[in-house]
Amino acid sequence: MEQIANNNLPDRFDTDQVKNRNLGLELVRVTEAAALSAGRWMGKGNKEMVDQAAVDAMRHALDGVDMNGTVVIGEGEKDEAPMLYIGEHIGNGNPPDVDLAVDPVDGTRLLALGLPGALAVVATAERGSMYSAPPGVFYMNKIAVGPAFRHVIDINAPVAVNLDRIARVRSAHIDDLAVAVLDRPRHQELIRQIREVGARIRLIGDGDVAAAIQAAMEDYTGIDVMMGIGGAPEAVLAAAAIKCVGGEIQCKIWPRTEEEREKFKADGIDLERVYSTNDLVSGDDVSFAATGITTGEMLDGVQYFGWGARTSSVMMRSRSGTVRYIQARHTWKTKSIK
Ligand code: FBP
Repeated sequence: MEQIANNNLPDRFDTDQVKNRNLGLELVRVTEAAALSAGRWMGKGNKEMVDQAAVDAMRHALDGVDMNGTVVIGEGEKDEAPMLYIGEHIGNGNPPDVDLAVDPVDGTRLLALGLPGALAVVATAERGSMYSAPPGVFYMNKIAVGPAFRHVIDINAPVAVNLDRIARVRSAHIDDLAVAVLDRPRHQELIRQIREVGARIRLIGDGDVAAAIQAAMEDYTGIDVMMGIGGAPEAVLAAAAIKCVGGEIQCKIWPRTEEEREKFKADGIDLERVYSTNDLVSGDDVSFAATGITTGEMLDGVQYFGWGARTSSVMMRSRSGTVRYIQARHTWKTKSIK
């Protein structure tokens, strides 16, 4: 009976993928918990409480995940982060052995101000396969694109060259392209160069993980490329998602000041090294989940009702390349979070 059913599956459907456990589905419950809890702090102007609510809920939900996880991208060193600190062991110790990257709220400021686009984000990959930036390194310069452009980008090439190559592959004019850039004073020169060649710009207040994913996803056409300097941990989270959907991210460590540049060099940090998607996440069993907290272009935010709440999430898996959008209806009477 089972044999007949398998023969009827479409040619390219790998039945082994059905048998493999999909950690991403469990990770969605983790990002949902963080979003449900942190969403209560929307617009209240309190970034600390936004973060704390998300971290507490995420940490608690992670306890229920069947895995042997180590936090590689977390809230910082143990001294400053009581939970989800780098090196913390998560899960019940059962296989799989994984590296864990978390951003309980990507867009803390957005959420505290009630602005669109805040997400709760988690990713896992095989143990030892996620990049952890050296201590003191906070930022990376990044360029992220979808699968069609993965072989034409070069973070060392001028902005005009990258945009021209992307436009050619897209059979479009440069002025048809939309480039996502974080709205920061440090990006004045980048913005000037993008404008000079005529491409359009999507300035984002925060949240370059979502922007990188949108650039990488072929079924999302609003952003062609994400460029500019953002958080180093966010680069790894974006790379995990890009590993699942295809595309490419290239990054270089970015010192904030001349002093920092000299210090990094003295510490032996190679500032010319280009980190590709595979350098940031080398594993090939990557799971990624994100839940919207405030409504953004990719995901709806949490909606609260008297009876419970609705969440909107995305989960991805590199092995299958499947992207699932999950709308969940949570009822308070069966939940500990309210
Ligand atoms: P957090 O909300 O996690 O603090 O990050 C928001 C964010 O916009 C990231 O998406 C981005 O990588 C980083 O901050 C940019 O850093 P900065 O705000 O210091 O320019």
